[in-house]
Amino acid sequence: MRIWKIKTNPNRPGRQLSRTEHQLKLAIAGATGTVGKHVARIATERGHTVVPLSRSNGIDLETGVGLPEALKGVDAVIDVCGTSAANETQAIEFFKISSRNLLKAEKDAGVAHHVTLSIVGIDKINSGYYAGKVAQEETVKSGEVAWSILRATQFHEFAVQMLALSAGPIAIVPKAITQPIAAAEVAAALVDLAEKKPAGRVNDLGGPKVEDLGSMAKRYLAANGQKRWVLALPLPGKFFKGLRDGSILPDASATLGKQTFENWLKDLPKI
Ligand SMILES: NC(=O)c1ccc[n+]([C@@H]2O[C@H](COP(=O)([O-])OP(=O)(O)OC[C@H]3O[C@@H](n4cnc5c(N)ncnc54)[C@H](OP(=O)(O)O)[C@@H]3O)[C@@H](O)[C@H]2O)c1
Repeated sequence: MRIWKIKTNPNRPGRQLSRTEHQLKLAIAGATGTVGKHVARIATERGHTVVPLSRSNGIDLETGVGLPEALKGVDAVIDVCGTSAANETQAIEFFKISSRNLLKAEKDAGVAHHVTLSIVGIDKINSGYYAGKVAQEETVKSGEVAWSILRATQFHEFAVQMLALSAGPIAIVPKAITQPIAAAEVAAALVDLAEKKPAGRVNDLGGPKVEDLGSMAKRYLAANGQKRWVLALPLPGKFFKGLRDGSILPDASATLGKQTFENWLKDLPKI
């Protein structure tokens, strides 16, 4: 893996200033998303060169458009792309195709390391989206680029995403327990991985505390002065049963993050 980045002197454009050790060129698939924004910010703060890969940057992972040019000289790719695919077939297709296109372009460009973000418990719960994440992991593991996979629990934003599913004064959220983590902490762990040699499947990452989703939703609304009632209901189906019975919680071997949901709420810009 290359560990050099050529710095140019801003006062003398085009002239080489110095070579700095351990600075990388990192491409981030999904750089504009919830966690991707943090990955891009943290990588930049650490002095790495960031190449954002998203449709808003002219790169489509599903068609492969823009990938060969974007990956020139890239040392590692961090894949945090996501989809709003509504069903299992669409989710599997999105994650398989986007990963295949990425990995092929990485191989052609000589990228040394592919880092993927996955989700804790995807193989323990019956969900179309999670089936897509399983397919993504399998594609990466059977691909030709050396890889690292980190599984993380839900972000603190999970409560906000669930609230957005219903409009009006009453918000219905599924009855669920989760161990949410700050997206920024997940992002830092992904950049840590990209800075090292490919490590395969690494320790799962979870938040510091188990939370009740209904309570998270209520506290989020209260913290933002929003007046809505929250109804946490035991929704039918295997997926929602899994959300209630702790299938998506990390096990005792997981690494735990530091920022609690409560502290994340305090740091949140008010809307
Ligand atoms: N949310 C969670 O609680 C959680 C927890 C653990 C792991 N994860 C995993 O983390 C990943 C990111 O989640 P997130 O919530 O941050 O996602 P997100 O906010 O929905 O962002 C998705 C990103 O993917 C990009 N994207 C979507 N389709 C694309 C395409 N065809 N080509 C190029 N870029 C595309 C989007 O940019 P454009 O729209 O501009 O293309 C955006 O930057 C997902 O794989 C998810 O499974 C999520």
